[in-house]
Amino acid sequence: MATMRAVRLHLPTRTLSVEEVERPVPGPGQVLVKVEAAGVCLSDVHLIEGSLTPLHLPGESVTLGHEVAGTVAELGAESGRWQVGDRVVLQAGEKRDGITWTRGVDYDGGWAEYALARVDTLFALPDSIPFEQGSIIPDAVSTPWGAVTTTGGVRPAEPVGVWGVGGLGAHGVQLLRAIGAHPIVAVDPAPAARERALAFGADLALDSADPELAAKIGAATGGAGLAAAFDFAGVPAVREQAVKVLGAHGRLVLVGLTDQPLTLTDSIRFSYLQQQILGHYGSEEEAVPQLIALAAGGRLDFSRSVSEVLPLERAAEAVERLHSKQGNPIRLILKP
Ligand SMILES: NC(=O)c1ccc[n+]([C@@H]2O[C@H](COP(=O)([O-])OP(=O)(O)OC[C@H]3O[C@@H](n4cnc5c(N)ncnc54)[C@H](O)[C@@H]3O)[C@@H](O)[C@H]2O)c1
Repeated sequence: MATMRAVRLHLPTRTLSVEEVERPVPGPGQVLVKVEAAGVCLSDVHLIEGSLTPLHLPGESVTLGHEVAGTVAELGAESGRWQVGDRVVLQAGEKRDGITWTRGVDYDGGWAEYALARVDTLFALPDSIPFEQGSIIPDAVSTPWGAVTTTGGVRPAEPVGVWGVGGLGAHGVQLLRAIGAHPIVAVDPAPAARERALAFGADLALDSADPELAAKIGAATGGAGLAAAFDFAGVPAVREQAVKVLGAHGRLVLVGLTDQPLTLTDSIRFSYLQQQILGHYGSEEEAVPQLIALAAGGRLDFSRSVSEVLPLERAAEAVERLHSKQGNPIRLILKP
């Protein structure tokens, strides 16, 4: 039996360990991918802490990692156009009986030497995009892309707000800039995240603790308020703060995940202004190939997005560094 190293989360105890496990064999319609890079997301932190629990996982443990890039190592039957050695990016989830299963949550992910992938969840990664940058396209870039373009429906020249300028939010700012939103107001308690927001294209970056925040957003939008606000933090207080600075027909899009209640203090104002709160998860299937094409075509640049590359054995350290914001990472990448 061939084996491989994998970072496994045991759900009943929420313990993380690097284990030697059986190397999977691709079945019909699957390939085995040799993992070259896998991103670390705050959702992994939520899974380890216990605020996020897999909905569909059949067993008690799972290999984490939903942001994965690598090379095709082995072909199952009916593996279509794929060849051994092809550079690929893996979709962060797949539909099973019409339900979304998330990679590295509901089935084994890519914090491992190898990962199985259904052929319809693979996308070719051009040589011009390094594996580390390619790995974060599914999720760290595709989720804000879906939130901004589909759920939020942002149109050019609309004033927008981004709460949380970490892995998702930094790309949210970059993507809003690319589609012509204006002004882009970023909100984050961390000074380094606010600096990053300005570097990624925000017009204004505010501290979430700033008592003048509402007045400053009012001034930046000519009194109109925001057309769309995005929670990329997963912090309950963000929702209340963002709703207060939405304008008429404004949309608040909830991307960040929290197990805390959603509260709306001034619901009369909310109804009177006909505002909306929209849940968002993942992205449409075409998001990843669209973003690969935009990066390959020079329209988007993810070279600033990879903060550090760490070996698989340092997964727990990477998780802790993302949690504590040590070194203010955008994305930490694991390399088996
Ligand atoms: N809905 C989805 O499909 C989906 C997909 C991936 C991640 N997520 C969730 O999105 C969230 C962000 O993930 P990430 O990997 O970008 O996290 P991250 O840790 O890289 O970034 C979070 C940012 O939020 C900031 N923040 C904390 N408190 C804040 C506040 N009160 N106001 C504004 N900003 C605040 C932090 O300083 C940090 O910069 C997480 O909750 C994650 O689980 C959701």
